[in-house]
Amino acid sequence: MPGALSRRSALSFLGAMAAAGGGGWPAAAAEPDTAAGPRPAPGPAPGPAARVDTLIGRMTLEEKVSLLHGAKDPLSLGQAGYTPGVPRLGIPPLRLADGPAGVRVARHATALPAPVLLASAFDPALAREYGRTIGREGRALGQDVLLSPMVNLIRTPYAGRDFETFGEDPLLTSQLVAEEIRGIQGEGLIAAVKHFALNNQEHERESIDVVVDERTLREMELPGFESAVRAGAGAVMGAYNKVNGAFACESGPLLTGVLRTDWGFDGWVMTDWHAAHSTAAALGAGLDMEMPDGEYFGEALRKAVADGAVPEAQVDRAVGRVLTVMDRFGLLDGGAPPRPGRDPGAGARTALKIATAGGVLLRNERGTLPLTGPAARSIAVVGPTGAIPFVSGGGSAHVVPDHAASPLETIRERAGEGARVDHALGEDVFGKTIPATALSPATGLEERKVAAGKSWTYDGTLTVDESDEWTFVLHFSGPPTGRPKVLLDDEELFPFRAGLGEYFTGGFVSTTPDGLAVRRTAVALTAGKHRLKVTAKGGSEGLAFRLRRTTSATRAADVAEAVRAARAAHRVVLFAYEDATEGRDRTTIALPGHQNALITAVTEANPHTTVVLNTSSCTAMPWLERTGAVLQMYYPGQEGAAATTALLFGDANPSGWLTQTFPVSDDRHPMAGDPRRYPGVDGREEYSEGIHVGYRWYDAEGVRPLFPFGHGLSYTTFAYAGLRLRRHGSGLEAAFTVRNTGRRAGAEVAQVYVGPSPDLPLTQAERALAGYRRVHLRPGEARTVTVRMAARTLSSWDTERHRWVLGTGPRTVEVGSSSRDPRLRGRIEVRHRG
Ligand code: BGC
Repeated sequence: MPGALSRRSALSFLGAMAAAGGGGWPAAAAEPDTAAGPRPAPGPAPGPAARVDTLIGRMTLEEKVSLLHGAKDPLSLGQAGYTPGVPRLGIPPLRLADGPAGVRVARHATALPAPVLLASAFDPALAREYGRTIGREGRALGQDVLLSPMVNLIRTPYAGRDFETFGEDPLLTSQLVAEEIRGIQGEGLIAAVKHFALNNQEHERESIDVVVDERTLREMELPGFESAVRAGAGAVMGAYNKVNGAFACESGPLLTGVLRTDWGFDGWVMTDWHAAHSTAAALGAGLDMEMPDGEYFGEALRKAVADGAVPEAQVDRAVGRVLTVMDRFGLLDGGAPPRPGRDPGAGARTALKIATAGGVLLRNERGTLPLTGPAARSIAVVGPTGAIPFVSGGGSAHVVPDHAASPLETIRERAGEGARVDHALGEDVFGKTIPATALSPATGLEERKVAAGKSWTYDGTLTVDESDEWTFVLHFSGPPTGRPKVLLDDEELFPFRAGLGEYFTGGFVSTTPDGLAVRRTAVALTAGKHRLKVTAKGGSEGLAFRLRRTTSATRAADVAEAVRAARAAHRVVLFAYEDATEGRDRTTIALPGHQNALITAVTEANPHTTVVLNTSSCTAMPWLERTGAVLQMYYPGQEGAAATTALLFGDANPSGWLTQTFPVSDDRHPMAGDPRRYPGVDGREEYSEGIHVGYRWYDAEGVRPLFPFGHGLSYTTFAYAGLRLRRHGSGLEAAFTVRNTGRRAGAEVAQVYVGPSPDLPLTQAERALAGYRRVHLRPGEARTVTVRMAARTLSSWDTERHRWVLGTGPRTVEVGSSSRDPRLRGRIEVRHRG
């Protein structure tokens, strides 16, 4: 059994936690009674438990086992997972689809903005609406379970899935995830919150052993999951990684201790895809379902029961958990409401609203934005993603959008007749044809087609006139394993590396407009002749491919064209991208390719340049001071171009705030300089920053970020006044006034941070988000805002007694516009109620 020895150390603290119990996390908008999704209509006996027991009593072992593992769906809708049900007993199949930014099936769906953009709005009501949209679509598209939300914290700026989750703060994450689950499940779709727990990076995600202490786990990563459970999530997906020596999908302390004993979770736990590692151990630890197949929970489980190695009662328990949730959603007695039709119009409206609400204006100088008057009629749009809509990230969060306009189209439309809106590529992500004159034999490597079962070889010479850096770009159809082999001077340019990263393509610059996968590699070439050998096999479907490249000269020409366009226009809007996917982490927070050089050249030509970022997470911005404005749109979904345009032109006022700190550079963030912390050494990774995740680390270490957590600008200004603090039970209440002091209507997120408790002998955060409120104000309007901070937000985890302990004594409360922009400060004594 993997990790048997080290599991003991995990048990020593996790098991103790489980025994001790924890307190409830405050819900953002308290509607606990609607939390758990549809309740069965009041009906005749037997009640749910009896009904489930009766069903189990009538099932054969084979039937029971068939409910506990994935199978091939004969009528697949393109979803990720399937269980067949037991038709003779009226138990229907379950279809399980991704994911976090919309329903991923083999059909069009609403591509919503990435969760990180949703989170930026700091608006639990929008999270509910987001959930409702996916919930309805999921049911309309024939699904029963949604593999979402992803609630793992952003711990490292390199993690490939930072766009799929909410941010670096546990309070904000907890409140948003609860509302999203209420939204999803309120429409009748079962939500599977993921990945339990500590899947905070993609590097070695299937094997990395996360070494974490009890307090860090409890205070940072777990609150989001706990909140999901308390909001009634029907299912939990276990993570790939290990936690303190044991795979998360067979960790008794996590799956039984924390989840069930402590939090009272009564739904089922499934694996992440291919994340099962054992039969008896995993089942005994609390795992109920293997996905997407039955390597351990199929025939092996049936046999283990037959042989007496696994008590059938354990199988019954797992089946009972699945059926109980199905029953709660009306799936067992035909009580589920009929599947609705899709409403693409409503989906698009929600996608637009949320992308607009979440866009974060990071910088706005020299009156660059909004675009009005002559500035709105003479615009250069620069960058490949100005003309290709960047909709979503890659991997299981990828959604096939109903439609997606490019920013160029929406900007042109908004600028109107008579306006001049030019586009310059600036950076060529798909490469240019290698001229036949550089090749001998002069057979082009463009538009090659190799028929099924056939092979094609090119064995010749590439002649390079000057030593130069070339970026080779390969476009190919078919699976990653079937791509052409390209050898340059006997060196393979696009080697196939084992691991999931090869199978996931990123977002929209990783696929050509005609649907081919793209790989890029930069090579320093010396002048002269190089041997080039390309071998391609047609496979069963045939193979289409192109080999292209960029050189210093082609890149300079692209930049020169962008500079010309920038000079000729009043304003420049430059779209920069970074293309992330699950399955791999990035290696730098710098923009990929030669985008930094492009931005430097363009901002020099026109200082009224707005850089729009379509990136997964934070980005280093060595060119920041040269820009007029920077607008962070992350992966904005199918309505991203319209939302971006509305914000650029001031039709909407920016109202998003960063949910993660942006570091200045690759060596100034919590993971820098310590490979044991990230990406791990010898398969082990230590969360040695402890509770100092995100902004807590920058505060503790006195490191200046590029942009702090909670930062976001508006086209109007807000003033804060009159802080009053009082105790509310064992918690606190802050009341203050926010006034819109500018000339435009806008929204502000008033953020409340608390300082450490002098009574707790623990390292604590210098400030921690304890509450917030999003307020819309007309010009001149003032509103009294009241923010409640529940006792739990003022508590720390006591590792001796394995429970939450209130941080009593005088505590500082800061109210402001970001974690580093306090406008009001007060102090109040925190005491136990009564
Ligand atoms: C991902 C999950 C996803 C699953 C099914 C896995 O690779 O980690 O988040 O739900 O695939 O697509």
